[in-house]
Amino acid sequence: MSRTNHRIPLVAGNWKMNLDHVEAIHLLQALALRLRTTDTTKVEVSVHPPFTDLRSVEGIIGADELPITLGAQHCSHLESGAFTGEVSVGMLRRLSVKMVLVGHSERRELYGMTDEVVAQTAGAVLSGGLIAVVCVGETAEQRDAGETNEVLTRQVTAALAGVPKGAEASVLFAYEPIWAIGTGVAATEVDAQVACAHIRSVISSERSASVADVMRILYGGSAKPDNAGDLVAQEDVDGLLVGGASLDAESFSAMIDAVAACYGSPAGNGK
Ligand code: 13P
Repeated sequence: MSRTNHRIPLVAGNWKMNLDHVEAIHLLQALALRLRTTDTTKVEVSVHPPFTDLRSVEGIIGADELPITLGAQHCSHLESGAFTGEVSVGMLRRLSVKMVLVGHSERRELYGMTDEVVAQTAGAVLSGGLIAVVCVGETAEQRDAGETNEVLTRQVTAALAGVPKGAEASVLFAYEPIWAIGTGVAATEVDAQVACAHIRSVISSERSASVADVMRILYGGSAKPDNAGDLVAQEDVDGLLVGGASLDAESFSAMIDAVAACYGSPAGNGK
């Protein structure tokens, strides 16, 4: 399957709480070798290591000029102060971090991150000049109760409240159904498309059709080499947010290749 599109796809690797900085260096070196044969004009790649790895990963990306965007998994919505354990946007920017995941379901579910704090964090990321990847998605219970669209509408609308008008170009959304994360049961490409299209429609009604048209929306949740191509072939799925499969250079690069292969013509020629 192939598609053409004006939205350059992103394949983002969320390492979660895996790999110390030495292991991170090994993974990055293995990934760099494989990316030599990848057409990185067709696909953007980011990695989101734990905070303790950022400095080492930044060093390798810079020294070897790797076509990889450095990302973080989370940050505080506050600038500085007595907030034990937190890391600010400014600290990340000093490490050349360009992109931050905001409101991952593990932050929402395990650490009590509310819609309001998600919005404030997105706002902090944007005012610090970084890109925010806002994660949204329903639980299994919400899905079974037919509440998926309602949950997505609420989460997307709430997050956009933290995005100043005109700053939307630095925002991506990631649809990550919680029941698909780490379970090996990914959403079907049809379900992923329906949810991503719904997210785009919410952005369109909250902002404008043209803002929605250029904003990238990723899918995440048990994305693997064997479903990557089918997922991004969908009209409204503009890339993948990958957990487990991003910890292995071979599987992550296979997914990047599958996405690049799906985008048949250079970005900008489509539509
Ligand atoms: P898995 O790819 O391991 O299901 O994780 C998805 C995810 O949560 C990425 O942020």
